[in-house]
Amino acid sequence: MVNDSMGAHQATARAHPNIALIKYWGNLDHELRLPANSSLSMTLGDLETRTTVHFDERLDADEILIDDVPAAHAASQRVRMHLDLIRRMAGIETYAFVESKSNFPSGAGIASSASAFAALTLAAATACDLHLDARTLSRLARRGSGSASRSMFGGFVVWHTGESDAESYAEAIAGKEYWPLLDLIAVVEAGHKAVGSTEGHRLAETSPLQKARVADTPRRFAICSHAILKRDFSTLAMIVEQDSNMMHAVMMTSEPALLYWSPSTIEIMKAVTRLRSEGLDVCYTVDAGPNVHCICTPGHAVAVSEKLRKVPGVCEILKSHPGDGAVIIAS
Ligand code: PMV
Repeated sequence: MVNDSMGAHQATARAHPNIALIKYWGNLDHELRLPANSSLSMTLGDLETRTTVHFDERLDADEILIDDVPAAHAASQRVRMHLDLIRRMAGIETYAFVESKSNFPSGAGIASSASAFAALTLAAATACDLHLDARTLSRLARRGSGSASRSMFGGFVVWHTGESDAESYAEAIAGKEYWPLLDLIAVVEAGHKAVGSTEGHRLAETSPLQKARVADTPRRFAICSHAILKRDFSTLAMIVEQDSNMMHAVMMTSEPALLYWSPSTIEIMKAVTRLRSEGLDVCYTVDAGPNVHCICTPGHAVAVSEKLRKVPGVCEILKSHPGDGAVIIAS
């Protein structure tokens, strides 16, 4: 914590995105971002967002830089609203300079909002001297982006749906060393997606399949968490792929329909299924974008990566091990 002569407060936080193995899609309460179902993720340690928040009494508005450029209107509004929440908690009205940088493409289904809002929450809360425990930080991050609640923690993380703000938080079920799985992200497009997840969550309830998906979540959630705790890859693969396909079935049957896949997405999904039938430990899962997260065991990662590179349309493969929760790196 730095207090300069003008009363400025500053902190820098680092947070990682996460890949949902059991997906969050749809809200019980859009305002509070209370999710329709519980979800489960792996934090991705090799990908990161670093965010500095500097509350400065000399500013007459919040200033927000994302990856070295001033944030576009919608993004800066979202950041401002989140800062307002934190300012209200701290009882201050001071504007902030926010600088955020990620080492991976944002807005392409690689959960950049998760690391961004986890880092922003922790940096802003620290900079205005709020001493919050991890659960409260997770609840607060959730208000900016649902999946950000999970990025507060490292390793394998569950986010409980909950019927109120106080009940809807994330917590770790196993640390990053528990099962050193790898996420190989086959990138087919790195641009911004047409329909962001905030809008997508609002469309979920227009699909006749959403009710069935939500009702079945406790079954998938239990199978997935047991598979992780037992390090049972073939059960994990089955349930992770089914969960991803169920979410995309809801997306495709919403009004209007959301289709995030490109032809290469399907090629990669087929290649992954084929590789598994040939004996490699790999499964796919796809978020709100065309890129495919290929989860594999460490011993099979090189072979899987070589095969994925040859799938037409794959322009890059990002690799990540399980990682830590959000931390302060400077204050
Ligand atoms: O946190 P949001 O609003 O960006 O939503 C995330 C939605 C998915 O990435 C598709 C699923 C998930 O659980 O991360």
